Amino acid sequence: MTAPSRSKRAEVHPPARAELDPIEIASRDEISALQRERLRWTLQHAYDNVPHYRKAFDEAGVHPSDFHDLADLEKFPFTTKDDLRRNYPFGMFAVPREKLVRIHASSGTTGKPTVVGYTQHDLDVWAEVVARSIRASGGRPGMVLHNAYGYGLFTGGLGLHIGGEKLGCTVVPVSGGMTERQVMLIEDFRPQIISVTPSYMLVILDEFRNKGKDPRTSSLLIGIFGAEPWTDAMRREIEEAFDIHAVDIYGLSEVMGPGVANECIETKDGLHIWEDHFYPEVIDPETGRVLPEGEKGELVFTTLTKEAMPVIRYRTRDLTRLLPGTARSMRRMEKITGRSDDMIIIRGVNLFPTQIEELILRSPYLSGHFQIVLSRPARLDEMDVNVEAKPEAWNEALVAQEAQMLSHHIKALIGISAKVHVLAPGSIERSLGKARRVIDQRPKG
Ligand code: DLL
Repeated sequence: MTAPSRSKRAEVHPPARAELDPIEIASRDEISALQRERLRWTLQHAYDNVPHYRKAFDEAGVHPSDFHDLADLEKFPFTTKDDLRRNYPFGMFAVPREKLVRIHASSGTTGKPTVVGYTQHDLDVWAEVVARSIRASGGRPGMVLHNAYGYGLFTGGLGLHIGGEKLGCTVVPVSGGMTERQVMLIEDFRPQIISVTPSYMLVILDEFRNKGKDPRTSSLLIGIFGAEPWTDAMRREIEEAFDIHAVDIYGLSEVMGPGVANECIETKDGLHIWEDHFYPEVIDPETGRVLPEGEKGELVFTTLTKEAMPVIRYRTRDLTRLLPGTARSMRRMEKITGRSDDMIIIRGVNLFPTQIEELILRSPYLSGHFQIVLSRPARLDEMDVNVEAKPEAWNEALVAQEAQMLSHHIKALIGISAKVHVLAPGSIERSLGKARRVIDQRPKG
């Protein structure tokens, strides 16, 4: 018997302290002082240059001069996606249109997209925080970065692109899709890093296996996964399959794009928020009250340095909690379990798709390709879970047993009766970017 070869993951090292930006390991006092100064500037900049903020602050009876300390931020009104939509396309910009060097937009499920803009300085900051994120993930100058986030109005592709270049990586701008070509380029260009949504990484994994190639022997060492919720169970799945480190990257276009927060490879214990540029709060989504550190609620961001489109207390709808720093001084946010608008309420029970993902991946025979279908055939809501078997597990007896087991776990641990259908590999629609986890066929209204 041959001895198991040493894991290639062991080749990746966290950055040395000297490689970090000094602010990443500064004292909390230094970070707070910088935030105070930058918040003061941002509030004034927004008030002076964006009619929406002037009106909203006036209506709330607050003025930028009321801001003295970080706790004063609470007096200022929230900003929502609806505010951005109402000011479509360019109404939220704080600089003349000619000063913008880039526009991005998020598609949105209905109607017009949400438009965001950047000055050259904003792009420089964005590149810096993404470079910092890649470095926190274990990336180094000189590594090849296979960037499979979508290029275009979506911020994923170009965000990782400018950050990778800034760090000194060789960036391969593959974008999403053409899965066979993804695998070919990974084999031929031998990247150490891949950046992609976790759900599309599973599609790439399938392609490796379809081609009879062992993903563990690929050149990849690090995966930088985000743009959608994913669980620690999914992390283990991907890390084992490719023998890589899977690291979480978070961001949203309204605040900047990817690189608002990132995990550190040495701890993988939640995402450090790059607090020198983005000020986080967690609020009770019902009352709007700011919650103490450690309590779970809706994440809210105020930008600290953005020129083109400052956002004040932007309600992300993402649910998480703030935690103290570990590998860096900057605070962490717990891995996101879901968005308030992804929450499924079925017969009075609240549920997030990540809870189903967690249970599916307990089974060695089920893959991470799944969809939840909600319907109302009579008066009551029903939930069906469609999940693919792993190719090697595709046999009828096993499939029936796994369906029953998953249905049992969902009932026992979440409290919902669901019909589980274990399907043949390849039956569930593939997304090139963010996966569509829920299909809601219930009548509206
Ligand atoms: O998804 C930016 C991004 C690109 C982040 C690439 C990471 C990697 P939007 O399209 O504006 O921007 O969508 C933002 O996606 O509010 C979250 O609900 C979700 N999201 C982003 N990253 C994560 C993550 C990009 N790591 C919305 N975990 C956010 C969970 C995430 N959800």
